[in-house]
Amino acid sequence: MNTPLKIGIIGGTGALGSGLAARWAKAGRYVVIGSRRIESAQATCESIVAGAIEGRDNEAPRVSYGLNVDVARDADVIVVTVPFDQQEKTLASIREFVQGKIVIDTTVPLLPPKVGTVNVPESGAAAVSAKCILGEDVKVFSAFHNVAADKLQSLEELDCDVLVFGDDKDDRPVVISLVEDAGMRGFYGGGLRNSIAAEALTSVLITINRQLKCQTGIRLVGMH
Ligand SMILES: NC(=O)c1ccc[n+]([C@@H]2O[C@H](COP(=O)([O-])OP(=O)(O)OC[C@H]3O[C@@H](n4cnc5c(N)ncnc54)[C@H](OP(=O)(O)O)[C@@H]3O)[C@@H](O)[C@H]2O)c1
Repeated sequence: MNTPLKIGIIGGTGALGSGLAARWAKAGRYVVIGSRRIESAQATCESIVAGAIEGRDNEAPRVSYGLNVDVARDADVIVVTVPFDQQEKTLASIREFVQGKIVIDTTVPLLPPKVGTVNVPESGAAAVSAKCILGEDVKVFSAFHNVAADKLQSLEELDCDVLVFGDDKDDRPVVISLVEDAGMRGFYGGGLRNSIAAEALTSVLITINRQLKCQTGIRLVGMH
């Protein structure tokens, strides 16, 4: 039997990271929660294990935890879920441990307090910045920009889609399968430069959410 992919989540204690972790654990994926503080990682891990046990027919969920750098070193696929103003510092700290691996960056370049206004980083997109920081040998993707963390955490059925961006063709199916295991449809939306479209759309959704007092996502139609 093949060894299961280890999915390491950097900043996995946060809103988005813990929501993704909970869904992947429930789907039977092997997840490792990363944090700057081992106690925080452990607490999130325990709460995800407790939530994932339900409905898994006695099969123990595979969730563990560690410091961000250790998680980056051990995992096969690394998912980065830290705030925009921490993206550069965090990626630089794990750079040496993720060479040759898939890194999925979720950063939306929001500039609080004006999170309803689109901000375009100098590089053209947060995903492009990630690639610049991590280097040519890292297979950088971006995804999950338009999904509300609360909805992920609820573990209820989701009716939204996820746009995936990246320049490495061969590894796209791995990322799309992670989106599907988190309970959504994933669509490849082009190279990293295109990521700005989804990153910017988040501010549009935030503006709509404020008006309607809800949490909208995106859904592609016209497939048939
Ligand atoms: N929330 C959403 O609905 C959502 C949706 C789509 C995309 N995103 C994107 O996903 C990313 C994470 O969002 P989030 O809402 O999950 O963020 P968050 O909960 O505010 O923070 C995530 C984690 O980042 C780490 N962190 C916080 N401050 C840090 C610092 N100064 N240095 C290093 N690490 C720090 C923390 O982990 P430790 O303290 O455990 O180290 C924290 O748990 C953002 O880039 C956001 O744009 C979010």
